Formats: sequence, C-alpha cells, structure tokens
Amino acid sequence: MTDIPLRQLNDGSTLPAIGLGTYGLTGEDGIAAIGAGIASGYRLLDTALNYGNEREVGEAIRRSGVDRDEFVVTSKLPGRHHGYEETLASFEESRKNLGLERIDLYLIHWPLPRIGKFVDSFRAFLKLREDGLVRSAGVSNFTEAQLRRIVLETGVAPAVNQVELHPHFPQAALRKVHEELGIVTESWAPLGKRQELLDEPVVRDAAAAHGVTPTQAVLRWHLELGAVPVPKSGDAERQRENLGVFGFTLTGDEVSAFSALESGRLWDGDPETHEEF
Ligand SMILES: NC(=O)c1ccc[n+]([C@@H]2O[C@H](COP(=O)([O-])OP(=O)(O)OC[C@H]3O[C@@H](n4cnc5c(N)ncnc54)[C@H](OP(=O)(O)O)[C@@H]3O)[C@@H](O)[C@H]2O)c1
Repeated sequence: MTDIPLRQLNDGSTLPAIGLGTYGLTGEDGIAAIGAGIASGYRLLDTALNYGNEREVGEAIRRSGVDRDEFVVTSKLPGRHHGYEETLASFEESRKNLGLERIDLYLIHWPLPRIGKFVDSFRAFLKLREDGLVRSAGVSNFTEAQLRRIVLETGVAPAVNQVELHPHFPQAALRKVHEELGIVTESWAPLGKRQELLDEPVVRDAAAAHGVTPTQAVLRWHLELGAVPVPKSGDAERQRENLGVFGFTLTGDEVSAFSALESGRLWDGDPETHEEF
C-alpha cells in the first residue's frame, strides 16, 4: 500500500493528499472498482447523493477489511435538499445509503445562488459537526463571494472547496482566496477528463523528463499547487498509476507551463448560474 501524505484542515482534521473519484462507479462492478482502489491505498473516497453510488462506497469499505477510521468518506448535499431541515434529512439519507455512522467530509455540491439557501445548509453542516456526525464541513463549486458570505454569516470557513481544476482551468484567483481563508482546494476533473490535456506537448515533455506518465505529471502539478486531486478511474492499473506521484517533483517552470495551458472550463459549470438538483 502507498503511504499517502496527509494535509491539515482548518478544523484540525486531515485529508489524504490524493483521493479516488467515484462518479459512474455503480453496481457490483462499481464495488469491485472502488475495492481495487482501496487495495491500492486510496483512503479518501469521493461520492455524492446524486452519484447514486453511496451504497457501493460503503459496501466497498466494509468488504475491504480496512479499519473504517482510516477513511475520509466524502459525500455531497444535492441542490434539491438546500435549507436547514432539508439538509439534516438529506444527511440521514446519505448516511443510510453509506451504512456509516459518520460522513468524514460533507460538501454542499453546488451553491445555487438563485435558491439562496446555502448559508442555511452550511449552518446545518455545523450542527452535524457539533453532533459528531460530520467530521469536516465543506463546500464545492463556491465562488469567492459565496465563500466570504459563509464566513461572514457563520463565522466558520469551510474546510474544503472542491472545484473544477486542471491545467486548462487552473483557477489561480480562487486558489489565492482559499489560501487567505485557510480552505483546502480539492480538484474535480483533475485530468481534465479529456485526452487533449494528456497530449499537450508541455505535459508530454515534462512526463518524459521525469520518467513518468502524462497523467502522473498532471496529478503532480495539482500537488505542487497545494490542491488535493480526486481522479476517477475504474481500472485497477490506472488507479495505481494515479498514486505514483510522490516520488518526483515538477520544476517551477514546468508548473508555470502547465498553468499557462489555461483555456477555460470543460463545460459551462459556472457556479453563479449552474443549477443541479
Ligand atoms: N463537485 C463536483 O461538482 C464534481 C464534478 C465532477 C466530478 N467530481 C468528482 O471528481 C471526480 C473526478 O472527476 P472526473 O471523473 O469528472 O474526471 P477525471 O478524474 O479528470 O477523469 C476521469 C477520466 O480519466 C480516465 N483516467 C483516469 N486515470 C487515467 C489514467 N491514468 N490514464 C488514462 N486515463 C485515465 C478515466 O477512465 P477510466 O475510469 O477508464 O480509467 C475517466 O474517463 C469524479 O469522479 C467525482 O468524484 C465532482
């Protein structure tokens, strides 16, 4: 098993420096794929009520024989459940699906500013944290203004903001805000989900220079930025490949060259307007 370094969160908890995305890993095949990830060493597992696979994540943990307390199980509150009481009820649904007492990292999946209830949901997260049912309260896809509103109205900075982040969308300004507020950045779609990123000449050159694969070079770029990537793979070999990022470092010039590939979001996932329920 790989020894994955831990990152410190602002609430005193820790987060493995890389995790396993599980979107699309469902059914028996999904349980087997998540189980293979656990066997390779992943302890941060990223799911959501809306992925329809919380049951699979919980089952893979139980079948693994690994102590439950080694895991940082992440799930997310869907848009249709925003609001204080609705959030508490949604949490119970997720917890039941997972078959776990506690969700280690609970995120508001999208801010949905038009609905205007994300602060109420975050207050419910803090209540769950107080009750020991959630270890860390975080958010996903939040903008600077939305983060500052949470801090202003609740006095608590989210532990994590999980956002779209890859060399085609490096989010420099938002990462600076995270640093200022003590929020750890998690990267979704860390591989840009598309082959084009892995075919970029600067990525291929850096990979060749370090004797690693383009995927490993891109994941290492996230670590150099201080972000926690959650690459998804359903394939045991690629899962292992994605953990092979701790034996080398990128130079400052390589990091800058990757960041200069900026071209924009993968799809129109603008948190100001995107609505997902
Ligand atoms: N908070 C949010 O709103 C949000 C949004 C999107 C995603 N997420 C989370 O972020 C996770 C990751 O994002 P994502 O799944 O969209 O994109 P991703 O991790 O960037 O890319 C996944 C794709 O890359 C392939 N892949 C993985 N490792 C590879 C390797 N070593 N070599 C070649 N191909 C490889 C996978 O195929 P194989 O499976 O066949 O290996 C899959 O097609 C999701 O699973 C989910 O947990 C969160």
